Amino acid sequence: MASNPKRTFVLILCSVLLVAGVARGGNFYQDVDITFGDGRAKILDGGNLLTLSMDKASGSGFHSKDQYLFGRFDMKIKLVPGNSAGTVTAFYLTSPPQGAHHDEVDFEFLGNASGQPYTVQTNVFSQGQGNREQQFRMWFDPTMDFHTYSIVWNPTHILFYVDGTPIREHRNQAARTGVPFPTRQPMRMYASLWDAEAWATEDGRIKTDWSRAPFVASYKGFVASGCTSPDVAACARSNGAWMHQQLDTTAQARLRWVQKNHMIYNYCADTWNRFPHGPPPECAAAK
Ligand SMILES: *[C@@H]1O[C@H](CO)[C@@H](O)[C@H](O)[C@H]1NC(C)=O
Repeated sequence: MASNPKRTFVLILCSVLLVAGVARGGNFYQDVDITFGDGRAKILDGGNLLTLSMDKASGSGFHSKDQYLFGRFDMKIKLVPGNSAGTVTAFYLTSPPQGAHHDEVDFEFLGNASGQPYTVQTNVFSQGQGNREQQFRMWFDPTMDFHTYSIVWNPTHILFYVDGTPIREHRNQAARTGVPFPTRQPMRMYASLWDAEAWATEDGRIKTDWSRAPFVASYKGFVASGCTSPDVAACARSNGAWMHQQLDTTAQARLRWVQKNHMIYNYCADTWNRFPHGPPPECAAAK
């Protein structure tokens, strides 16, 4: 094999790229480890598909083998169909282990009763500090087919996308506001299906209907392109379009469209009485 010069060249090129960063794509056997659920998480179709299931005894989950400092993470997800009230399907980044100063970037899909729309909740934690939720109603039925959910994380921005449409921009305003932004701890991609009937659907008024268990969510098309070594600058040079990604004017207009028409909660305009002393400082700075 190695006697083929073209292949040798490709192998060398790949090893050079691996030193700085890594692009993962497409095979769950190679890319992830199952973290909990005792057989309820299943890798199928030669590694192309992963299903998470949940019954009364347990949910299930998995995480990426690699850790990343900055990157772009795409996942195609088909959510629990029918009456999914009480369930939460998640796709997120978090710095392991989840200690008091952990960083986290979340997509959480809050299930609902049959025929009622799902809520997508996004959140950002930095140095253990969360309470940065924005929630959206999906503008399509996310249980009918796979849709792509993406997180871009670089030193200045965290961006959330649904099928390529930006739904949220969270900027690094640490210099102006002192509010920390995740820039130092590597994170892993995590996904899970779990029971949150105490709060997920209409503040816990609608409980999980366990007679419908097991609940199943499906994942495919995981692509991660990020820095896996501490040399972030080298990684950014080798493959990091996401490293400088921000929203251009077209993307800003689409973001405003989503926020105007589909956003149902924004911590900066809190209506749940969570911030007696006013919303966090970056809210004012963002205006
Ligand atoms: C479920 O749907 C109802 C009716 O549209 C809505 O009021 C409620 O907020 C939804 N709950 C979640 C968790 O999306």
